[in-house]
Amino acid sequence: MSAAPLLEIEGLAKSYGAVRAVDGVSLHVDHGEICGLIGPNGSGKSTFFDCATGLSQPDSGKVRLDGLEITGWSLDRIAREGRMLRSFQKTVVFSALDVEENLVIAGQMFAFPNVASTFGIGAAARTRVESLRIQARELIAAAGLWEVRHMPAGNLSGGQQKLIQFASMLMPKPRLILLDEPMAGINPKLIERVMDSIRYANRELGVSFLVIEHNIDVVTSLCARIVVLDQGRKLAEGTPEEIVVDQAVREAYLGG
Ligand SMILES: Nc1ncnc2c1ncn2[C@@H]1O[C@H](COP(=O)(O)OP(=O)(O)O)[C@@H](O)[C@H]1O
Ligand SMILES: [Mg+2]
Repeated sequence: MSAAPLLEIEGLAKSYGAVRAVDGVSLHVDHGEICGLIGPNGSGKSTFFDCATGLSQPDSGKVRLDGLEITGWSLDRIAREGRMLRSFQKTVVFSALDVEENLVIAGQMFAFPNVASTFGIGAAARTRVESLRIQARELIAAAGLWEVRHMPAGNLSGGQQKLIQFASMLMPKPRLILLDEPMAGINPKLIERVMDSIRYANRELGVSFLVIEHNIDVVTSLCARIVVLDQGRKLAEGTPEEIVVDQAVREAYLGG
């Protein structure tokens, strides 16, 4: 572990035409932290994620991962070399594959350099697949999906698919995951389970998180520190206790 924050972003800016989606935002995530990112619709949260993870390039600003500058790297390179992953709001699973295969494939896509080895052709690849399967089973048990591990993912509920997707993201052993509204559209019971999965990954696997989430109860319960964006700028930053009583934050959400 180095002295630098795990993720350090300085003065990030991105415009779409005349819209300054992100307008000079600095933010860091410490090693081992679960940091929250909130703000009204259109405040630039997803654009911030896009620029931090290489999906789109910022107009200006710097992105550093564990002290290494990665500004301008592609999404793929940031994922593989930087071991920083992101989720999107839409849930994506391989519907025809069972839960276990979904996780094994997720691990293989990252671990192997070519198609033959991705699909387990060759002795070395088969040994590797076996170790991925062991890892997959641990994650499936931790996600509470053990009973349904041989069911096709497409037959499971939306919430269960979210859990599969989240567990799949852990297969390549990321050090940082950026989650874009992980609780959107799932019922309260499953919200608890997704929160448990995030906490498990944080405590047991050492994964750090930056989480965009509209559900304020979820953010204040998961995160020790919260950053608030409004109109592309950082409006506030602090502990959950500080954020919920912050007058500027209340005005941004309530419109005055
Ligand atoms: N690809 C894009 N093209 C044009 N405008 C965009 C694009 N992505 C985001 N925006 C605009 O940038 C602003 C911030 O959007 P976004 O980052 O999605 O906010 P949030 O995730 O906080 O809801 C909005 O005004 C949005 O319309
Ligand atoms: Mg968004």
